[in-house]
Amino acid sequence: MTQAAIIGTGFFVPDNVVTNDDLVGMMDTSDAWITERSGIKERRWLTRDNDGNTAMTGAEMGAAAARQAIADAGLSTDDIDQVIFATLNSDVFFPGNGVFIEDLLGLKTAGAMDIRNQCTGFVYGLAAADGFIKAGTARTVLVIGSEVQSTALNASDAGRDIAVLFGDGAGAAVVQATEQSDRGILASVLHSQGRYARELYVEAPLGTVAGRINAEMLAAGRHFPHMNGRMVFKHAVRRFCEAITEVMAKGGAEIDDIALIIPHQANQRITDAVAARMGVGAERVFSNIAKYGNTTAASIPIALAEAVRAGRLARGDLLVTVAFGSGFTWGANLIRW
Ligand code: ACO
Repeated sequence: MTQAAIIGTGFFVPDNVVTNDDLVGMMDTSDAWITERSGIKERRWLTRDNDGNTAMTGAEMGAAAARQAIADAGLSTDDIDQVIFATLNSDVFFPGNGVFIEDLLGLKTAGAMDIRNQCTGFVYGLAAADGFIKAGTARTVLVIGSEVQSTALNASDAGRDIAVLFGDGAGAAVVQATEQSDRGILASVLHSQGRYARELYVEAPLGTVAGRINAEMLAAGRHFPHMNGRMVFKHAVRRFCEAITEVMAKGGAEIDDIALIIPHQANQRITDAVAARMGVGAERVFSNIAKYGNTTAASIPIALAEAVRAGRLARGDLLVTVAFGSGFTWGANLIRW
């Protein structure tokens, strides 16, 4: 039976490092508060010109990550027949960034699909790629997560609870059909609970308001992210653990079989709480949040690319990718590397 295997990974982060101490110059915060609450020491934010335009778009960062993933897979752009692009920060209101990738990479009219599942986007993307491949809809799928968060943040005292957490970046994976039965995506689980959508969201631009945004909405800060941090924390820990347990059961694995868990890099305290509840040592749970902060849909593919380059995954290893985020949405993939 055809399997869907990850055969290449890549990532891109902007050069511009913003440390916790750099943030102290913008808002009332401290390195100690941020480190203790989140484990984050620095993040990357795209630089901006005098007009406020970022040096790159989310699609361009995604394309940079994708080029690396395609080269890592030993393929060329001609081999890609489907793009799946996960982001909560599309460059324009519509269309989504997938089509910009098609153009930037010269993919010769390959299919492009966008996923709006925030921190869970890459997990949903891998599940979709697996489905496309097993159904014969596509043979080689480029799954990308890319986020320009820095332009959306309120980097003042009013937005400090959120602004300190997020960073810019992109990651990508090439998922290809293989007849090798001993590798590939073994199982995925996907969930959502929309009753909590407003506990972590950006309200504006608003599709139900003429003009979508107005001065009153801007003045009220309705275009900035809103987060009920404590509720997110509580649900995240529970849902991360449930998703790991469920995907292992679905794929016929036990926790001791798992070589590596790559959780969405939400917050080191969430990761630590999940590891403790699952009884897994830190050496089996990948973390790079100290360097990049929370890059939402980009966090798992960046972590995956770094894990591969650090030799943390060997052929035949069992890997779990797992995420929770705005929506609320959550899910996991069980992968034989
Ligand atoms: N620097 C300094 N002080 C701050 C900051 C900051 N950046 N942000 C908030 N504070 C203050 C608050 O104003 C509050 O002050 P007060 O006591 O005078 O009112 C104090 O710190 C404590 O605020 P709390 O909100 O109670 O802090 P808490 O301990 O809950 O930590 C945090 C907040 C870090 C957001 C926590 O709730 C958390 O980790 N939540 C999970 C959220 C998360 O990780 N989201 C990631 C995105 S979602 C995802 O990826 C799954």
